[in-house]
Amino acid sequence: MNILSSVVSAIGATPLVELSRITHGIGGRLLVKLEYLNPGGSKKDRIARQIVEDAEADGTLKPGQPVVELTSGNTGTGLAIVCAVKGYPFIAVMSKGNSRERVRMMQALGAEVVLVEQLPGSVRGQVSGGDLDLVNTETARIVCERGAFRADQFHHRGNFRAHYLHTAPEILEQTDGKIDAFCDFVGSGGTFAGCAAAFKEFNPQIQCFVVEPAGSAVLAGESAVHPNHRIQGGGYSMPNLPLIQTEQIDGYLQVTDEEAIAASRSLAKLEGIFSGFSSGANVAAARQLLAGRTVVTIVNDTGLKYLSTELWE
Ligand SMILES: Cc1ncc(COP(=O)(O)O)c(C=O)c1O
Repeated sequence: MNILSSVVSAIGATPLVELSRITHGIGGRLLVKLEYLNPGGSKKDRIARQIVEDAEADGTLKPGQPVVELTSGNTGTGLAIVCAVKGYPFIAVMSKGNSRERVRMMQALGAEVVLVEQLPGSVRGQVSGGDLDLVNTETARIVCERGAFRADQFHHRGNFRAHYLHTAPEILEQTDGKIDAFCDFVGSGGTFAGCAAAFKEFNPQIQCFVVEPAGSAVLAGESAVHPNHRIQGGGYSMPNLPLIQTEQIDGYLQVTDEEAIAASRSLAKLEGIFSGFSSGANVAAARQLLAGRTVVTIVNDTGLKYLSTELWE
């Protein structure tokens, strides 16, 4: 028998797939980790489990204590799942700019969802750093009011550890360690930081690239002239991400909205992989690196979360 004690144990151990159709005619191997196959449909299930279990272990999360998080939806969905199973009330605080599917999914999983208005003049579906500042203020207020544990994915080491202990080791095992480069579209930077640390410990020659929206590449030192990009889940124009160590960055790649959208659509049509904007950004960026090399990137979440957006119009 092989029966899991809860769906939390079904998080991780995702497949790694070679994209031979999209890369036809270009030398090199493009491998993608199918994180949309996690129970909540994204890679963020991993960090939800790790943050909660690390906080349980170090006593910062007490039995039955409310859990609060600022989220674009995926971390919230992961936390809603983990909290439902483990018996913590969960409150997700998110910008009205994110898609409706995410809100409904979290609510279905028992979460309370608090939606925060965007800055005047902002566009639905485009969450800027300024919009996030507003969500942050509201999150801090709710944490205080409810005596809650804030998962705090931008700072909590569990975000880093989820990918350092699991995502990257899985990739190294799946490839026998034979990879040349890794890239990831950065939100909190947890995936990039955890994977880069593990890859470089295994083989310092593995190059790790940060992916950012064109016109909002602040980690690369550029100014944010296009903060309202469409690549949901990251590119928040935050020049300092506490989880990322800059010495582990070998380079910066930029992807336009159009490139991310086109790559996501090709992933679906040619490879049968139904993803969101940021996975398209990852694939478009990874293609820039190929040139005969083996490049790994992440399919961050499922396209089902974007059915109401222009991605699938
Ligand atoms: C769809 C999507 N893509 C990319 C990211 C960025 O991942 P990370 O926070 O590990 O940098 C997120 C994070 O929320 C996400 O939800």
